[in-house]
Amino acid sequence: MKKVKEAVKYIKKHSKVHPTIGIILGSGLGSFTKEIKIEQEILYIDIPHFPVSTVKGHSGKLVFGELNGKKVVAMAGRFHFYEGYTTAEVIFPVRVLKFLGIETLLISNAAGGTNNTFKVGDLMIIKDHISMLTHNPLLGKNDEKFGPRFPDMSEPYKKILIDKAKNIAAAKNIDLQEGVYIGVTGPTFETRAEYKMLNSLGGDAVGMSTVQEVIAAVHMGLPVFAISVITDIGIRQEENIITHEEVLQAAKDAEPKMTYILKELIAVI
Ligand code: HPA
Repeated sequence: MKKVKEAVKYIKKHSKVHPTIGIILGSGLGSFTKEIKIEQEILYIDIPHFPVSTVKGHSGKLVFGELNGKKVVAMAGRFHFYEGYTTAEVIFPVRVLKFLGIETLLISNAAGGTNNTFKVGDLMIIKDHISMLTHNPLLGKNDEKFGPRFPDMSEPYKKILIDKAKNIAAAKNIDLQEGVYIGVTGPTFETRAEYKMLNSLGGDAVGMSTVQEVIAAVHMGLPVFAISVITDIGIRQEENIITHEEVLQAAKDAEPKMTYILKELIAVI
């Protein structure tokens, strides 16, 4: 809490924007920030205690500004457990955004399809998740100033936001999948057997982010909406390999659809 407060203090000193919506952008999905009428940018390296991004396709800054009449802050670049960050580091920015005053958190990510009806380029609203992403970020002593010891997880992704997003997509004839996201550590993509297992466990998509951030947000009572771009289909029969480049390209191709939905959602939150 002390570190969160120090980070918040620094940000408040350097930014005049009071965002009500926080946005975390996934791999290959960072150009959403172009939609923002940018008023301020703060590099992660300048914020006390903030981790610094290392992954290709992530830049590493907070972008403040206005979008569709709302004040927003976007994280261009997020922190993954596979990079070697602790879970405390992975969720640190989420806590900082909450204490900066955001009231809603929007998340995007790139994910592999484990539902064999999905196609590369599909968008999937996350309606629930299964955590296979060690460790739970709330392990250890609980600080009640963040939230309760045993948070309820019956609605980690707010139904009201999901309904709004579905209406937005339907009005524009954008096909949307809805499903369960399984969070894994990575950094390996899954074996054929693992994709099959994840599907039989009830997963529609699999990815290496999001779950820990969502747990931290729910702990603090912060409403979340999250959406995946399906960048590869793990559960397929033919010979295939999955590369990071392919994931980034598929994310980029699907980005305009996702951008539209997030933008319109921001207008009606
Ligand atoms: N598996 C895990 N994470 C991913 C994948 C995948 O197939 N695609 C994009 N992120």
